[in-house]
Amino acid sequence: MRRLWISVSALSALALLGGQLSFAGSTPAAASKPSPPQAYPADSLRALAAPIGLRIGTAVNADQLGVNEAYTKITAEQFSSVTAENVMKWSEVEPTRGTYTWEKADQLVAFAKKNKQLVRGHTLLWHNQLPAWLSSDGNTTTLSDAEVKAVLKRHIFNQMRHFKGDIWQWDVVNEAFDDNGQPRQTIWYKAWGGTGYIADAFRWAREADPKALLFYNDYNLEFTGVKSDAVYALVRSLKAQRVPIDGVGFQGHLSTQYGYPDLQNNLERFAALGLKVALTEVDVRTETKPDAVNTPVNPLAPYAQESYWSRTLQACLAVKACISFTPWGFGDAYSWVPGWFTNPQEGAALIYDEQLNPKGSYDVLQQALTLAAGAPQRSHR
Ligand code: G3I
Repeated sequence: MRRLWISVSALSALALLGGQLSFAGSTPAAASKPSPPQAYPADSLRALAAPIGLRIGTAVNADQLGVNEAYTKITAEQFSSVTAENVMKWSEVEPTRGTYTWEKADQLVAFAKKNKQLVRGHTLLWHNQLPAWLSSDGNTTTLSDAEVKAVLKRHIFNQMRHFKGDIWQWDVVNEAFDDNGQPRQTIWYKAWGGTGYIADAFRWAREADPKALLFYNDYNLEFTGVKSDAVYALVRSLKAQRVPIDGVGFQGHLSTQYGYPDLQNNLERFAALGLKVALTEVDVRTETKPDAVNTPVNPLAPYAQESYWSRTLQACLAVKACISFTPWGFGDAYSWVPGWFTNPQEGAALIYDEQLNPKGSYDVLQQALTLAAGAPQRSHR
């Protein structure tokens, strides 16, 4: 108790002294440095998480960044890590075979550097958002098996080398298993005749950028069950074969209709394999009104959502190997949820409302971080 009190007091004292905290780590900006780092509020999520080495991230909507002033300010001030919500996906970077369009992704990386943020690269290998020349549905392609293998290898090398040194964590493989814990029958699975593509992708990724942390990323790993078990078996086998995998991303797309998952247990069992873990795409949706998609049907639902947000962050805080906590965006107006979950309508899944005012779910994250000074310090590598 006493240690916690001292630590929280120290944090408050820093805040009172400087009004601002410096980026990364627990030390305030040194007076001797020629150009002080970009300042951000002492009560921002990124500042509160810095003393224990936890990165608080957000997915970034490239259409809003640099265009929408309030959106851009919150992105810079609140978060110490960013993920491209879409602009690093294959359909975005190579819409025409052999012609790369890096501009939007480059802009995000430049923004991150300017604001002292680390970048999660998302994602190198998926069955969605593939360019039309490769596959329109992720399961079929006009390319031969040999060509599919060659284009995947080329893609991983080209993309990782383009961003070499700029990406902290790469989602190398995304969502390779279905909800029944079966390997998805994607173009990758078919070309390799099994899940062997996963090991190849990680090996190529390590070669392309040896310093990046390499992640497998998926949803519903939060719940113990067939899917989480299947991914656990996969990554354990990859580790046993010395395939270079560094971490597992728990996306964390939660809904109040399914109950709260046994997340901490699952984070711990994956971490016990010698892996980093991260919450990579957190949102907490609830049933909303069809004609007001971010207004909950049940006026009590926001309290349940706040509880889920708080417990999800606390699960990460409790596990030393959990190195980042990333909501999938922050403003309800830009969330993928209302457009995707329409029967029943769900929404209101993020921590800022449609006008970019912080919600109760933002406040509980602040509170959890303020009380986290005694949580284990984590290391980024
Ligand atoms: O860019 C085109 C635009 O040119 C076109 O006019 C418009 C018409 O629909 O579509 C635009 O593309 C959309 C794209 O987002 C960019 O806004 C796609 O239709 C739309 O399907 C796409 O949705 C994204 C979704 O992944 C695709 O699967 C969401 O924004 C994004 O949040 C979501 O993110 C995924 C993670 O990558 C992986 N985990 C699950 C998560 C949620 O689905």
